[in-house]
Amino acid sequence: MADENDEKPICEDGVIMGRRLSKRVRADVKARIERLVEKYGGPPKLTTIIVGEDPGSQMYVRSKHKASANVGILSDHHDLPESTTQEELVQLIDGLNRDPSVTGILVQLPLPKHIDEKTIIGAIDPLKDVDGFSPRNIYRLFYGGETLSAATPHGIALMLDSIGWNDLSGKHAVIVNRSTIVGKPLVFLLLNRNATVTVCHSKTKDLPSFTRQADILVSGIGRRTSDDDPFFITADMVKEGAVVIDVATPHGDVDFEQVKLKASCLTPVPGGVGPMTITMLLQNLADAYAAQKESHSTPH
Ligand code: GUN
Repeated sequence: MADENDEKPICEDGVIMGRRLSKRVRADVKARIERLVEKYGGPPKLTTIIVGEDPGSQMYVRSKHKASANVGILSDHHDLPESTTQEELVQLIDGLNRDPSVTGILVQLPLPKHIDEKTIIGAIDPLKDVDGFSPRNIYRLFYGGETLSAATPHGIALMLDSIGWNDLSGKHAVIVNRSTIVGKPLVFLLLNRNATVTVCHSKTKDLPSFTRQADILVSGIGRRTSDDDPFFITADMVKEGAVVIDVATPHGDVDFEQVKLKASCLTPVPGGVGPMTITMLLQNLADAYAAQKESHSTPH
C-alpha cells in the first residue's frame, strides 16, 4: 500500500525531514536486499563490536541492529570488556574477515585509550568495512571513486541531493567539525561535488566570521549536555538563505527556532541527520553484500 509520506517533499516548511528521506531509502535498500538474497541465498549479516563501557555505544549499536532487522539484515554482537587487549581485538577481527557469513564488521567508536583506533580500523577487510573508515575506502573517497563511504557524511550528501543541491559549484560549505567520522570525509564528498569547503574547529578564531559566509553550514560541535545549554550556532551566525545541517546529538548545536527564520532549509535534532546515518550504514551493507557475492560468483 502506498504510504502518503511517499508523496510529501523532503524539505517541508524549511525543515529537511531526515526521517522521511530515511524511510524512502530504507524501503529501496530492503527491496534490493530481497532481490540479492533471492539471487545468492543466505542473508547479509552485520557484526558489531563494543569494547568497554562508553555510555552512548550500547544504544547506538542497538539502533543499528534494529534498523538492520527491518531491512532483512541479520546481526550479531561482541561485547568485550575494557581490559581487552589490542591483539585480542585484532584476532577477533581476523576471524570475522575470514568468516563468509559476515558481510559487515563495525567496531563502535570510541575505543578505550589503550587500543589504537587506526590499527583496528586498518585490520578490517575493506570489503567488510561498512563504516567506510578503512584506508582503502578513504583513499577511494579521496580520489572521488565508488566506495563504502562514511555513513554520516554520506547521509548529509544525500540530504543535500534530496533538496536539489547536487552540484555545489559556486557554493561555499563551512563544516564546523574535523573528526575522522564526520568532518574530514565530508570535505571530500563536498569537494567532489564542486563546493568550496572551509573546515572550522575548536582552535578556529572568530567562528562567526566563517559561518556567516556559508551557503551550506554543517555543525557538529556536540558539547551541549542538555536542552537548556546555550546554542553554539545562533541566528546571527547564519547567512540568509543558507542550508543548515546539525550533526550534533543528542542535543543539537543549532538554535532551531531562530535559525529557521533565516535559513532556506535546516535539519531538526532529532529526526534529521541521525536517521540518515543508520540508513547509509544499511546501504553500505547492501553494497558490501553485492560486492562480496559478485566477487565469489563464477562467470557464465
Ligand atoms: N561512533 C560514533 N559514530 C560512529 C560511527 O558512525 N561508526 C562507528 N563505528 N562508531 C561510531
